[in-house]
Amino acid sequence: MKKNNIVLIGFMGCGKSTVGRKLAGALGYEFSDTDAMIEASYGMSISQMFAEKGEAYFRTAETELLRKLSDEAEGLVLATGGGMPMREENAALLREIGTVVFLEAKIETILERLQNDTGRPLADGEDREARLRPLYEKRLPVYREAADYILDTEGKSFYGIIEEIKTIEGKATKR
Ligand code: S3P
Repeated sequence: MKKNNIVLIGFMGCGKSTVGRKLAGALGYEFSDTDAMIEASYGMSISQMFAEKGEAYFRTAETELLRKLSDEAEGLVLATGGGMPMREENAALLREIGTVVFLEAKIETILERLQNDTGRPLADGEDREARLRPLYEKRLPVYREAADYILDTEGKSFYGIIEEIKTIEGKATKR
């Protein structure tokens, strides 16, 4: 049986952390963000880790964290880094941890949200759109495959999204 955890996956800027924090509050769950957990345990920012140790090092840190969470997590809403489900092992671990919800958003919406963003090494720098579009196209089927539920977030408020996830989880409050 699935554990009592909700795992949010999706591309950078799709709202995993904001939705996750609000959802955890609404359900009385804990909230964690894999990027923040990695930053805290390695004592460096994700950007710093990419620059000093390389992306592969970060990806290994992600897998190790998921292994730990698959043993320990209970009553948790987990927001994951956008690349998390790309490793097959990670996708399997995510499903072990809990119900995996893909927050789908259009690339146009994402590009708009990330416009003034810094601190995401894959999105930083010049030609952002030229780099992110193909990455998005490549990842979209992987997110869909990894998810238990695909939630189209377009045009929906945070409240609407959270109510939808609560319904998925059978935790909808009757009004
Ligand atoms: C990444 C997304 C980031 C972070 C890292 C790599 C990716 O997380 O894990 O910069 O590969 O898409 P967010 O999705 O929270 O931005």
